[in-house]
Amino acid sequence: MNPFAYRNGILHAEDAPLPHIAVAHGTPCYVYSRAALTAAWQEYQDALASQGVGERSLVCYSVKANSSLAILNLFARLGAGFDIVSGGELARVLAAGGEAGKVIFSGVGKTRAEMEQALAAGIRCFNLESAAEMRKLDEVARAHGAQAPIAFRVNPDVDPKTHPYISTGLKTAKFGVPIEEARDLYRRAADLRGLNVIGIDCHIGSQLLDPAPAAEAAARMIALADQLAADGIVIKSLDVGGGKGIRYRDEKTPGVADYLAPMLKALAGRKEQLLFEPGRSLVGNAGLLLTQVEILKHGADKNFAVVDAAMNDLMRPALYGAWHDILTVRQTNEQTNGAMREYDVVGPICESGDFLGKERKLALAEGDLLAVMSAGAYGMSQSSNYNTRPRAAEVMVDGDAMHLIRRRESIADLFAGESLLP
Ligand code: LLP
Repeated sequence: MNPFAYRNGILHAEDAPLPHIAVAHGTPCYVYSRAALTAAWQEYQDALASQGVGERSLVCYSVKANSSLAILNLFARLGAGFDIVSGGELARVLAAGGEAGKVIFSGVGKTRAEMEQALAAGIRCFNLESAAEMRKLDEVARAHGAQAPIAFRVNPDVDPKTHPYISTGLKTAKFGVPIEEARDLYRRAADLRGLNVIGIDCHIGSQLLDPAPAAEAAARMIALADQLAADGIVIKSLDVGGGKGIRYRDEKTPGVADYLAPMLKALAGRKEQLLFEPGRSLVGNAGLLLTQVEILKHGADKNFAVVDAAMNDLMRPALYGAWHDILTVRQTNEQTNGAMREYDVVGPICESGDFLGKERKLALAEGDLLAVMSAGAYGMSQSSNYNTRPRAAEVMVDGDAMHLIRRRESIADLFAGESLLP
């Protein structure tokens, strides 16, 4: 579904006109659609049910994509599990009403304190990424008289064919353990009293458009599970990670059912529980970043639209050269407005990399509102206070209701933890 559409020439989020949100809550402001988040969740449920694996599947929303409490709470109400990578994310999930028993903990550098926190909470599974981490978790668990449920994140060495910064399944990545070393590690883990081996985990990358690499990875996980069974190690769950891509511009993205089909075919007839860790595909297209044009700079060679959002609010263009569509909130086109020009849409931060979009054909006046689309994933969660800029407000639209789910940070918030020298 597309929750963001023009009505009478004004861009709306569901039934809420974006200019009303700008007046009520200011800009820059992230705007999410509850209906779109719910629909994205339902698409996973429907796809799994239609393939006959609904009962043995658990979708664990990857919190890093957008960790705002209201979003976590919405997914918790829908029955989601959660994929976390820090103690902070665990605290957020619990504060938002998520169930610890449905939490899986990924990441290459879990600290002792985080391991203790997750053990005390009673999470479902630790995804281990090295032999050193295995020994550390065993020690921590035994010290607490506990047994930690674990999977190893295996690195199947398949090429996900995505941006190098978000490819994680290749041999050269820092993630996971090489699949050919996994069997030996599992045997060692099975002998450690502090660990309880329950699964195999894998995540090969993000913004994947081709379902084949994930299906190939699943096939390699199954082969490993069968080897382990021969060693007397019973694997109860297979975690196939996240990674399904979304449409930012003109990418051909399969729907969830089509994306999962080859993988589920590879997994057909198995008994293990299936875990999924989608992030972007649940939230990416359900959010936009609303911003206002502050200054227009028309030059001989280039035109700049300086807006009040910047790379600190949405880092993806600066970091990955990522494309986000940029729409005017008041609909314009060449017929209705002859002043169409090519603009670089930039923020006020003192860096040349501070842009949200380059060479965009737009008809603009100062004070106009713009919507930076597909900003629900890795937008707010990657934002910072660079240039001492308070982080944006966040609003969740539900029909015509506009709920402020995070107030704009104040300058006082930014100083709150700091002190002067004695
Ligand atoms: N599981 C693990 C272990 C992950 O590392 C990730 C993402 C996910 C699941 C969720 O992947 P997704 O379904 O969202 O593709 N900041 C980058 C994306 C970084 C992805 C990091 N890991 C971006 O804005 O494109």
